[in-house]
Amino acid sequence: MKAIEIRNKFLDFFKNHNHSVIPSAPLIPENDPSVLFNTAGMQPLVPYLLGETHPAGTRLCDYQKCVRTVDIDEVGDNRHLTYFEMLGNWSLGDYFKDEAIAMSYEFLTKELGIPAEKLSVTCFAGDEDCPRDTVSAEAWKKVGISEERIYFYGKSDNWWIAGEEGPCGPDSEMFYDTGKPACGPDCQPSCDCGKYVEIWNNVFMEYFKDKNGYTKLKNKNVDTGLGLERMAFLLQGKETPFDTELFKAVMDKLEELQKVDNIRSRRVIADHLRSSIMIICDGGRPSNVDRGYILRRLIRRMIRHMNNIQIDLNQLANLVDINIEALKDMYPDLVKNKNVIKDVIVAEKDKFVKTLNHGEKEFKKQIKKLEGTKVVPGNVVFRLYDTYGFPPEVTEELAQENGMEIDMEEFNKLFKQHQEKSRQGSAQKFKGGLAEQTETTIAYHTATHLLHEALREILGEHVKQSGSNITEERLRFDFSHPQKMTKEEIKQVEDLVNEQIQKDLKVTCEEMSYEDAKNSGAIGLFTDKYGDRVKVYTIGDFSKEICGGPHVTHTGNMGRFKIKKEESSSSGIRRIKAVLIKE
Ligand code: SER
Repeated sequence: MKAIEIRNKFLDFFKNHNHSVIPSAPLIPENDPSVLFNTAGMQPLVPYLLGETHPAGTRLCDYQKCVRTVDIDEVGDNRHLTYFEMLGNWSLGDYFKDEAIAMSYEFLTKELGIPAEKLSVTCFAGDEDCPRDTVSAEAWKKVGISEERIYFYGKSDNWWIAGEEGPCGPDSEMFYDTGKPACGPDCQPSCDCGKYVEIWNNVFMEYFKDKNGYTKLKNKNVDTGLGLERMAFLLQGKETPFDTELFKAVMDKLEELQKVDNIRSRRVIADHLRSSIMIICDGGRPSNVDRGYILRRLIRRMIRHMNNIQIDLNQLANLVDINIEALKDMYPDLVKNKNVIKDVIVAEKDKFVKTLNHGEKEFKKQIKKLEGTKVVPGNVVFRLYDTYGFPPEVTEELAQENGMEIDMEEFNKLFKQHQEKSRQGSAQKFKGGLAEQTETTIAYHTATHLLHEALREILGEHVKQSGSNITEERLRFDFSHPQKMTKEEIKQVEDLVNEQIQKDLKVTCEEMSYEDAKNSGAIGLFTDKYGDRVKVYTIGDFSKEICGGPHVTHTGNMGRFKIKKEESSSSGIRRIKAVLIKE
C-alpha cells in the first residue's frame, strides 16, 4: 500500500467515525513563532487541548507535516527521518481510552490488514504523579491483544509531553513486530534492535505540567500520532522507509551516481534532500539562526555526504526534480515551487563550497601553528566544524595527509556539550510556544491584532502580516511594506492602537464558515491552513481577524502600547517590535 493510500484510508476511517478532517498546518508554525517547526500533529492544536473550543468540533483528524532534528544522528538506520508525516486523530473532551484504543485496533487490523499477532502494545506503569494505566491494558485485551503482548513502562517510555511544560499524559504505543529474530532474551518493544518498530501513539492528555507540578486539564483529551513513512515500509514488506516509493527513485539515482558505495550516506542524502525541499516549499530559507540554521545544516550535511560518496554536486537540481516527481501526488504545492526550491538549494550549495575552501585555508593556518606536534587538538577540530562547517572526518583526512592525527575524543566531548545546549534550546523554544499562554502573552496577542489593523489604516491596505512572534517581554510583527516607516507614521500607529486600548473595546469571537469570514471583511492569512469553519475575533468596530485565539475580553487593561523598533526584515518586509507598558 502506497503512503498516499494509507493517508487517505486513515482520513476516511476517522471521517466515518464522525471526525472532522482538518487541514495540515504549514511546517513552519504561523502564529507560534517560538517553535522552530511543527514536530507533532498536536502542536497546532495546543490551544484546543488546553480547553479552547475548536470550530470543527470535538473529534478531529488530519495529516501533519513534521520536522524533528533531535534524532538527526540516527538517520540512516531503519526508521528515523528528519521530515515525516504524522497522521492523527483527536478527541477534545469527547471519547477517551476505550474508544480510542478500539478505533486504533480496528484501523490497524481491518483497514490496513495487519494480523493482530504482529502487534504489541505498551501502557504506562504508574508512579507518584499518575496511576498505572490498567484501563488501557484492559481495553487492549478486550479488542484482542493477548496479555503477553502488553508491556508496562515508566515515564521515559510511556509519557508524552512536548518539551518540559505543557499538556501531557500517559500514552499507549503500538509496535509492529518485523519478524526479525529477537536480539536476546530481554528483547521487548522498548529495545532498539529494530525487531519492534513503533507505529502509533495514543496519548491520553489529561494533565498540564508546569514548574509547580501536574494539574488536571479541563478536558480528558486524546492525541494520537501515526508515523506514515514507517507504516508504509512495514506494510510494503520493506526494510526501511528508503525502500518505499517516497525515496526509491532518489536512492536509485544516488546509487548510479556514487563512486564510493555507502548506504548510510545515500540515506542521509535522501532524507535531508526531502526535508530541505519540504521546508523551502513552506517558506523556509537558510540562515544562521533558528529554523534557517536547521535548514542550512540539513543542506550542508547532505552535501558533505555527497562529497563522501563522490557525487558531482551539479547533480543537485536533477535530484530535486526526481524527488519532487515522487512526492508531488502527496504534496501538489511542490510542483508550483519547484524552481524556487532548486534555486535555494543550489545557492546554498555554492555558498557551502566556498566555506569548505575557506575551511581548508584555515586548516593550513592552524597546521602551521601546530608544527612539531602530532595531534590536532579537539578544540581546533571543533572550531573548524562549528565555524567553517568542516566535518571532523574531512579534518582527519587533511591531518593524515600532513602526518598528523586529530583528538577525536576531545572533539566528541565538545560536540556533545554543544548538542546538549541546542537540545535544551529547542525544549525551551517549545516551552515558549502556545502551550504557555499567560495574561501577558494573551494581551500581546490582542495588541498584535490592533497593530495589524492600525498599520493598514495608516500605511494602506497593502500591509499584510508575514510573521508574528510573542514572548512575555514583547511582540514582534512582520508585514509587507516597501519602505521604512517615518517617525510620524510610527507615532500615528502607536496613537491609533492606544486609542483603541483606552476605549476599552469588547473582544468577541464568532465561529463561521471560511467563506463567510472572508466576505465579512475579516483579515487573515488566507492560506489553505484554515478549515471549513473558522473563528473570527472582533475588537469593537476596529478590527476583525480570523484567528484561533485566545484574546483578552476587553482592551482596557492591556497597558500602553509602544513601538520600540521598526526595521527591515527582508526585501519588502518590515519588522516591528513593540511592548505593552503597565502603568
Ligand atoms: N503527540 C504524540 C506524538 O508526537 C501523539 O501524536 O507522538
